[in-house]
Amino acid sequence: MTEIIFEFLGRIGFTHPVHPAFTHIPMGMVIGAVVFRLASFLPRLRMLAKTGYHCVILALLGVGPTIFTGYLDWQHRYGGAWELLIVVKMVLAAVLTVLLLFTAIKDDPENPGLDRRTGIYLLMILVAVGLGFSGGELQYG
Ligand code: HEM
Repeated sequence: MTEIIFEFLGRIGFTHPVHPAFTHIPMGMVIGAVVFRLASFLPRLRMLAKTGYHCVILALLGVGPTIFTGYLDWQHRYGGAWELLIVVKMVLAAVLTVLLLFTAIKDDPENPGLDRRTGIYLLMILVAVGLGFSGGELQYG
């Protein structure tokens, strides 16, 4: 399957790794979610908690294609080799997905507080940084 996809992409002139194009969705949305959540504690900006929540939903929708394309690039460009960085990425991808799902189900953006739910927003950005750094190490060494 992997080679069929890359042969097709090669035929239409797309020879880059596919994963980086998709990583912007969860990475950008997690950063946005945290910025809006923290800004919602400023006077008269409470409504930004809802914007942050919407970023969580889009990040969650983007995680599936991001993980799938990460798998494709791993198979195509790294021969499916079980490197430590790949295992780290798989674990962090699973953790991020669980945190996004938990927030999507349990968060109450109408009543944001400096509580555990906001703590999970901060945890999500740490996991995203870990995913980006380990990805950068794979790509740029
Ligand atoms: C939500 C989950 C994930 C996020 C947000 C994410 C994010 C990233 C980022 C930001 C990069 C650097 C891209 C660049 O600018 O060059 C990257 C690279 C990479 N990631 Fe991920 N990643 C995720 C999951 C995975 C998974 C599950 C795998 C493998 C099974 C994977 C494999 C790779 C590989 C091989 C690279 C090196 C560049 C490439 O060949 O595409 N990623 N990732």
